[in-house]
Amino acid sequence: MSTRIYALPVDQTQWHVPSGDTTIFDWEYDEGRDRLLALYEKGKQKQWNAADRLDWSIEVDVNDPMGVPEQTIAIYGSRVWDSLGPRERGMVRHHLASWQFSQFLHGEQGALICASKIVHTVPGLDAKFYAATQVMDEARHVEVYSRYLREKLRLAYPINPGLKALLNDVISDSRWDMTYLGMQVLIEGLALAAFGLIRDNATEPLAQALNTYVMQDEARHVAFGRLALREFYPELTSAELAEREEFCIEACHMMQERFVGEEVWRNLDVDADECISYMRASEHFRAFRSHLFSRIVPTLNDIGLFGDKMRRTFADMGIIGYERHNLEALIEQDEKIAADLDRARIEEVETAIAHGGAD
Ligand SMILES: [Fe+2]
Ligand SMILES: [Fe+2]
Repeated sequence: MSTRIYALPVDQTQWHVPSGDTTIFDWEYDEGRDRLLALYEKGKQKQWNAADRLDWSIEVDVNDPMGVPEQTIAIYGSRVWDSLGPRERGMVRHHLASWQFSQFLHGEQGALICASKIVHTVPGLDAKFYAATQVMDEARHVEVYSRYLREKLRLAYPINPGLKALLNDVISDSRWDMTYLGMQVLIEGLALAAFGLIRDNATEPLAQALNTYVMQDEARHVAFGRLALREFYPELTSAELAEREEFCIEACHMMQERFVGEEVWRNLDVDADECISYMRASEHFRAFRSHLFSRIVPTLNDIGLFGDKMRRTFADMGIIGYERHNLEALIEQDEKIAADLDRARIEEVETAIAHGGAD
């Protein structure tokens, strides 16, 4: 993507992150673990081509890209919002959608790099096999978000500083489990909840379909992270586990604090401080922000990183209620919604061909 479509200047088009990884070869070409190999089979079968599964001819209205009611805009009801006319409100919607999809895009590139890093750092060959399918999935995700930004929104934002700091920590850490924890559990967990909100609430068909299909892939990625970490964490000492919990707590605080679209408010030349304090006090935004943790909390509980400090942190953040969310059911639902959408798409194509043939 050319940096010309960025709303803000990008001082550096390449970001270099040093990492001291150790690459591990595995000479045991035996059968491997069944559940990982089953996931690998599924990863191979469920590949899809973003160029033809999505209808890129759909026109997107940049002044209302998601097709959602204005009550859902984070600053709706604020003094700033009330002072804006219809044209400026359209611009706020355009920039907010572009900021959000840009963060998805940069996060997906992080996932692409992390998945490839897992291929060379994880010890078992079966895990390397599965991670190889994930590399392809993540490349596809970078492809779809960058195409959506380029062709439909025609505007992009640079990476959010909080996301950049978190990616830097995850990528520069040489321990393989930290890549899984930071990327598959935290960053992708947050993204998954955000994709789900678009899938379930947007009325614009391209954004909705795109997020539905990405979620189908992510459901497998989360399953992979859980399998690997559930097996590995019981082997660690309590000091090692405490260090990982501390990392998660800091990352969750950062994500809660920093994802308020500050770059958009400053760029649009509205009162950014007022927008942010309005959002922080708003019931609607608080509910939205809590929902962003609805996949992270049950996953941390499931992999056994759920000591007293973690519980207290989540209770203070008002998100401890997600601890018992049924992850299996959510993953099954993500896969079913995507399969139903794809079936409907195929039926539509077949009907069109049948009618075309009858003419
Ligand atoms: Fe992804
Ligand atoms: Fe992923």
